Amino acid sequence: MQVSIRFLPSGRTVKVKQGTTILEAGKKAGEAIRTRCAGKAACLMCKILVRDQAGLSPVTRNERVKLGEMADRNYRLACQSRIWADVEAEVPEDPLKAVIRKKLASEEDQ
Ligand code: FES
Repeated sequence: MQVSIRFLPSGRTVKVKQGTTILEAGKKAGEAIRTRCAGKAACLMCKILVRDQAGLSPVTRNERVKLGEMADRNYRLACQSRIWADVEAEVPEDPLKAVIRKKLASEEDQ
């Protein structure tokens, strides 16, 4: 069965097989979800925000331990979250890009 995931802020939407991880779906969609551990729940770089998690697999014990209080704020590890029904996921801005964007914005204000 196919399900769809919409990534924000890009709006890219892809259809994937039910049970696919968000990380795998992100690769298919061309989303820049960061990873250094290739999906082994070790690097914590693949954090994404999923406000309505009804379409996702439940938070695993390992994922909860790794995310800490971020799990309570609807963050998930893309590599551990499997898609069971249509869902929307917000991909945080790359921290380095965010720093550069803020720097450029502050220079424009001067
Ligand atoms: S890809 Fe490293 S924790 Fe998810």
